[in-house]
Amino acid sequence: MSVDVLLGLQWGDEGKGKIVDFFTVNYNVIARFQGGPNAGHTLEFDGHKHVLHTIPSGIFHKNCKNIIGNGVVIDPVVFKRELDALGPFQVDLPQVLAISRKAHLILPTHRLLDAASEKAKGKQKIGSTLKGIGPTYMDKTGRNGLRMGDTELPDFMERYQALVQKHCALLDQHNFEYDLAPMEKEWFEAIEAISHVPLIDSEPWIHEQINNGQKILAEGAQGSLLDIDFGTYPYVTSSNTVCAGACTGLGVAPNQIGEVYGIFKAYCTRVGSGPFPTELHDATGETLRKNGHEFGSTTGRPRRCGWLDLPALAYACQINGVTQLIMMKADVLSGLESLQVATGYTYCGEKIQHLPYRLEDQYLEPVYTELKGWKEDITQCKSTDELPQTMKDYIAFIEDFIGIPIRLISVGPDRTQTIHA
Ligand code: GDP
Ligand code: IMO
Ligand code: MG
Repeated sequence: MSVDVLLGLQWGDEGKGKIVDFFTVNYNVIARFQGGPNAGHTLEFDGHKHVLHTIPSGIFHKNCKNIIGNGVVIDPVVFKRELDALGPFQVDLPQVLAISRKAHLILPTHRLLDAASEKAKGKQKIGSTLKGIGPTYMDKTGRNGLRMGDTELPDFMERYQALVQKHCALLDQHNFEYDLAPMEKEWFEAIEAISHVPLIDSEPWIHEQINNGQKILAEGAQGSLLDIDFGTYPYVTSSNTVCAGACTGLGVAPNQIGEVYGIFKAYCTRVGSGPFPTELHDATGETLRKNGHEFGSTTGRPRRCGWLDLPALAYACQINGVTQLIMMKADVLSGLESLQVATGYTYCGEKIQHLPYRLEDQYLEPVYTELKGWKEDITQCKSTDELPQTMKDYIAFIEDFIGIPIRLISVGPDRTQTIHA
């Protein structure tokens, strides 16, 4: 048995939460493998809207186990809030949720360091979600971090204090003002409050499930263009969001990966700073933002909007080994007379087909192909037969360019607004 992976192919917010929830009926285990509360995964069904940050998106299905893998970073305060929000929905938490002992902890001082670092960068700021992600992964790779399993150790408090001392010295260097005491109080109370969620040695557990024939779906966070190695560095997050991250973030071997579901929006969005070759600064960009409700699920910030970028999508498919594509939010394009799709770039005056090293506007300009739009409202369509011909042409154009089939089309935020292609 293998582990399937579902991940974002753009700059995040592609709709991963919706599709993981939609797919969960076919899986026994949903496992988050990287990122932390910088993620905001939205699920809509039965008239309810849920935004999950750390908890995997299979949580509303009774017979599914949800695992937070070793590659994830956890802020107990955000995690507690998420658990509290599940209160009215009769989720049997100790039964359906477990955390890897090896998942790293986001300390209150990591959040402060994130803010101090962004402030120091000034105009060059990453546009981080300020959830402490960067500093936490820095401590992980710097071999200073604290892990969930450490909370079970008798000397946890000493370990905590030792790390906080280092952080305070750094914050002093930044001349950053803060009031740590209330943050610490909230943090320790949260650790206590979440202690009913089991900590497990997740790698042997996952391998046992694989050996028992259980079906596992690994849920990615962020998107491939935010990957620490392959994204638009330095305007990226601090983890490997690509498929390889599922191996390191769960302890699954590369030859155990099965299907790789790559999710993309029918256009592009990005929240935070950094290059975005097909960004629209005009009324059409505004229309996409308005029709797509493009405001961050975690921070509420307006998302930058632009046309679909096919060379960037092809690159993401290549580094992830995507086997099936899932297209989201095509309904948002309804009503546009014509659609532009980037099919190449002009880079320093030369025509190129791939995403180059430098992506800033002064070097890179997209080359567009124009396609016909569609006027029809597609949000109630139940099968591809019902879709307008020009939308079918749009889909065929993408499949042709990328060479991978689009297997699922999402035409609205609700679980039911999903069409098998
Ligand atoms: P994620 O981070 O990849 O899980 O995506 P987000 O939840 O941050 O952002 C996706 C947003 O689009 C959410 O508000 C979803 O409810 C919404 N959404 C998902 N699929 C569709 C769709 O097909 N059409 C529309 N209009 N909205 C969608
Ligand atoms: P989901 O899982 C969209 C962006 C931030 C910022 C950069 C670095 O919901 O798709 P960080 O807080 O990680 O240091 O921020 O990455 N970012 C996201 N953008 N969706 C996300 O997650 C994101 N997580 C981080 O806006 O530009
Ligand atoms: Mg999101």
